[in-house]
Amino acid sequence: MSEKKHRVSRRQFLNYTLTGVGGFMAAGMLMPMVRFALDPVLRPATEQDLVPVADVADITTEPQRIDFKIDQVDAWYKSEEPKSAWVYKEGDSIIALSPVCKHLGCVVNWNSDPANENMFFCPCHYGLYEKDGTNVPGTPPLAPLDVYQHEVKDGKLYLGKAKPKGGA
Ligand code: FES
Repeated sequence: MSEKKHRVSRRQFLNYTLTGVGGFMAAGMLMPMVRFALDPVLRPATEQDLVPVADVADITTEPQRIDFKIDQVDAWYKSEEPKSAWVYKEGDSIIALSPVCKHLGCVVNWNSDPANENMFFCPCHYGLYEKDGTNVPGTPPLAPLDVYQHEVKDGKLYLGKAKPKGGA
């Protein structure tokens, strides 16, 4: 009698152990998925991630450089990546251009070359762009400045990713 009791309890013990191990493994697989779904910090930035950068009321018809940061998640490493945009108003629209020169990636300035007023100027190889970002033929850049996706919400300007002008 006592032997039988002993055997049953051993089988029960094995059952509990296997169930426990299985449950532990299932939890181990599910937890990262649940965390990934719930924690926005762990989600990679998507096309829709727009960050507030300025009050619309402060934006003028003269391009102003706005510096901001976006969250960058790289595998296990989270960092803040600095970004800049040249932003101005044109009638009812807001234009936000990337300052990264399309020649070799230097940073362009607005109205900094006395010989070419009211243009974006790249000091590295004398690249020039019109106010709307169009590259001036005969200067090194072969494409217009990239344009930031943007949105206005509650009086604030939100910027997303910079994309080639006219690109999808
Ligand atoms: S990097 Fe701007 S002109 Fe060359």
